[in-house]
Amino acid sequence: MIHDPWNGSGTTTAVAAMMGFRSIGFDVNPALSIIAAARTATREEAIEVLQAIKALEARPPKGKRSAAIQLTAIFHRLHLDTCTLAETYENRRVSLILCILFRAARTLAKPSRASNPTWYKISPLSQPTTATDVLNEVKRQADIDLDSISWRQSSTPAPMLHTVNSCIQHLPDETIDAVVTSPPYLTRIDYVKATLPELQLLSLIFPDLDELDIRRKMIGSPLVGRTAPMAIDAWGRTASDCLGLISSHPSKASNGYYLRFYLRYFHSLFVSLSSLFESLKPSGFLSMVTQTSHYKEVFIDLPQIVEEMALAIGYQRTGSSQFHQSRSFVTLNAKSSRTLSCVNPIEQISIFLKPNALVRS
Ligand SMILES: C[S@@+](CC[C@H](N)C(=O)[O-])C[C@H]1O[C@@H](n2cnc3c(N)ncnc32)[C@H](O)[C@@H]1O
Repeated sequence: MIHDPWNGSGTTTAVAAMMGFRSIGFDVNPALSIIAAARTATREEAIEVLQAIKALEARPPKGKRSAAIQLTAIFHRLHLDTCTLAETYENRRVSLILCILFRAARTLAKPSRASNPTWYKISPLSQPTTATDVLNEVKRQADIDLDSISWRQSSTPAPMLHTVNSCIQHLPDETIDAVVTSPPYLTRIDYVKATLPELQLLSLIFPDLDELDIRRKMIGSPLVGRTAPMAIDAWGRTASDCLGLISSHPSKASNGYYLRFYLRYFHSLFVSLSSLFESLKPSGFLSMVTQTSHYKEVFIDLPQIVEEMALAIGYQRTGSSQFHQSRSFVTLNAKSSRTLSCVNPIEQISIFLKPNALVRS
């Protein structure tokens, strides 16, 4: 049983399924859970969905309406039953339909892109578009070469996917063989904003979806609120030194907003690592990819912070490997600080073991 508490678009669960392992993936962003589910559809499910999309006929033009409304109408033409958001992860056909509509939504939202490539302006799918243009775009996105994708064999278990807050949702103790994951990076990227076209479409289909609530639950969210947890010794020396440098930094809001941001992040990371420790079976592994970053000129060595937290919780370090990233969100954003854009972050994969009870005692 493989677990990824920050499964994103589902690389861990897709690879686990390909290798025949059972897996469980959490993510707080439902758009990403849908993509993760679609990645584990079978070829037969994909054929069914693609044929249904190809068979859609253009309806008489009704003038221009927003792309979001047109895409929602196409969803209801393809999927007549009502379903809840959680049911879409179970039903791979529905997640595939949504995934193709997401791809069309991205193209149709292009005019709303802000200069920062991870951001969209508010309501990116609001521009009026004709029904024919939207349908043509959906059909273009459904024009997939089935042989270019490794579909899941129906004999292998489909991953279990849940849209939950990993800081609150705990798996039963000693049930997981390996955690393979990458936490949200400490770069103040608003992952929710980066999926605004997908969420705008989903919120029309599932009116319960609350984008603000998702943003608040995100680890590393720029929405930090007025209060923050206290630092504790178990976070380790590197986290403590970083917090000291940030709180004494002369720039505006360093000792306020930014300190709260880092305190919240370290707290969430520590809580998550502790909970994962409990859910791992003895001799189970935690494999985590993290990236270094900067606050102003303060170097944030997240791989080292993770290691110190993990050792304090009781994990044993078994190995790590570093690789340099030539592209990061800092280097992608033309408006980011010039000095920092020259510094490529280092990514590190760190592997820890949960010792069995005998060794621990
Ligand atoms: C670095 S990304 C993971 C990328 C992933 N490995 C992939 O293949 O796409 C981190 C993920 O953590 C998710 N996340 C952030 N806060 C979360 C929380 N509190 N609970 C669950 N997931 C969260 C984000 O939505 C994001 O998808």
